[in-house]
Amino acid sequence: MTPQKRSYPWTSDVGGHPITFRLMTPADKEVFRDFVRSVPEEDNFFLLLDVRQDRSLDHWMRGVETGRTISVIALENGKMVGYGNLHTSELNWTRHVGEVRLQVARSHRGRGLGKVLAQEVFGIARSRGLQKIMARMASSQTGARQVFASLGFQPEALLADFVIDAQGRTQDLVIMSHDVTGFVN
Ligand SMILES: CC(C)(COP(=O)(O)OP(=O)(O)OC[C@H]1O[C@@H](n2cnc3c(N)ncnc32)[C@H](O)[C@@H]1OP(=O)(O)O)[C@@H](O)C(=O)NCCC(=O)NCCS
Repeated sequence: MTPQKRSYPWTSDVGGHPITFRLMTPADKEVFRDFVRSVPEEDNFFLLLDVRQDRSLDHWMRGVETGRTISVIALENGKMVGYGNLHTSELNWTRHVGEVRLQVARSHRGRGLGKVLAQEVFGIARSRGLQKIMARMASSQTGARQVFASLGFQPEALLADFVIDAQGRTQDLVIMSHDVTGFVN
């Protein structure tokens, strides 16, 4: 199949709400910061950045600028309500693997938004020639595990005590994966 270049922005009804999808640009730092700082701390636990620190957000935006991080953001009335990220590897030997992260505002969950964002990220991964996509989550994130399972992800590995929270409690890290070519959207 020839990879299709996706075009943005586009708007669609998701669970009765008009949601606009577009790619994040470096100019979206504030809209991104407002969103990630508005969600409960435990929802940001799994992120690769410390959302409380501006320099961490700047680092994220540099990834967006260089194309290493591609984010599809979902907006309702100009306010961000979710995103799907694809992180690609700088390493030659893992250049075929991307890592996906999804986050949807609690107010907008359970309406199919996470699934739309995942489909967008998969489409981008395919158009970039990636072959495998992975997601990491803590073992306590049972909802997230079920969401990824419903998208066809398979459990790949469980790393004992690889995650530690602010209170020093450890838990297992779950890695799930999906072959990009096998994803239909
Ligand atoms: C994971 C997350 C992005 C899902 O977003 P969402 O918009 O609620 O997901 P959707 O409504 O598109 O649901 C997708 C599928 O998962 C299922 N699902 C959604 N939430 C679920 C839950 N808590 N438990 C079990 N299944 C769930 C839905 O039924 C649907 O399955 P179906 O297609 O078979 O009907 C959202 O819960 C979230 O932001 N969680 C916090 C961040 C996180 O854990 N991210 C994952 C790690 S990268």
